[in-house]
Amino acid sequence: DSASSTAGPLHGRHLVISAGGTREPLDPVRFLGNRSSGKQGIALARAAVAAGAQVHVVAANIDSGLAATLPPGVRITNVESTLELQTQMHAAQAEADAIIMAAAVADYRPAERTDSKMKKTGGEGVTLNLVQNPDVLVGLVESRREHQVIIGFAAETGDPHHSALDYAKAKFRRKGVDLLVFNDVSDDRAFGHDDTAVQILSADGGDVTASAEFHGSKDDVSEKLIEALVSRVECVES
Ligand code: CTP
Ligand code: CA
Repeated sequence: DSASSTAGPLHGRHLVISAGGTREPLDPVRFLGNRSSGKQGIALARAAVAAGAQVHVVAANIDSGLAATLPPGVRITNVESTLELQTQMHAAQAEADAIIMAAAVADYRPAERTDSKMKKTGGEGVTLNLVQNPDVLVGLVESRREHQVIIGFAAETGDPHHSALDYAKAKFRRKGVDLLVFNDVSDDRAFGHDDTAVQILSADGGDVTASAEFHGSKDDVSEKLIEALVSRVECVES
């Protein structure tokens, strides 16, 4: 349609981007969530449209004002929980040339969601039982279509044993992605801030290699990542 009619390197390509952060319901009014704003995913969607792509954003709890900054023609599917995100990502996968998992996904969810509001009882605390969520990204990699490019994100901190980059490299392997956007959050930089620093990890033969660190706004970083994606998509041009 009109939004992608200007030719660009991603003209005719379909991108599916998850954005925001999942919320895991406890009862009708409460959830476990995270602070992800969705700015990075939305910035990626804008950069992808600028490169000519058809974009589908699967948005987990994104502020409507932020969603309104998306260019016309971008399809949005709203989700709340990780299980909903998983369902919608798999539904969207069939049409995707590339998938970017920019959403912050809850690792655990309450084992049960009560239909009525949890009551406060007595003077005691409460213990919540949590179960592990599926790894949506790994599931997408397992059902990857031929030539589909799959990209993950990783915010890591280092510790006395391993650097943040070491952890990101291990995550790259574990996830089976084509590219991993690594964000070193050891000394604060990240959540909510407008500036960020990333390295793009990829596999070069047997080794995981990291690009030079790139600093900039989430829009700058998005442009860089879309450039990296363009070269991947071009590699598989039929
Ligand atoms: N991710 C996902 N499903 C999950 C957890 C994470 O799809 N249940 C995706 C995120 O969207 C991101 C990538 O996996 O693109 C890395 O997320 P991260 O939280 O760093 O990885 P985890 O495997 O959860 O490892 P950990 O939190 O223990 O570092
Ligand atoms: Ca996690």
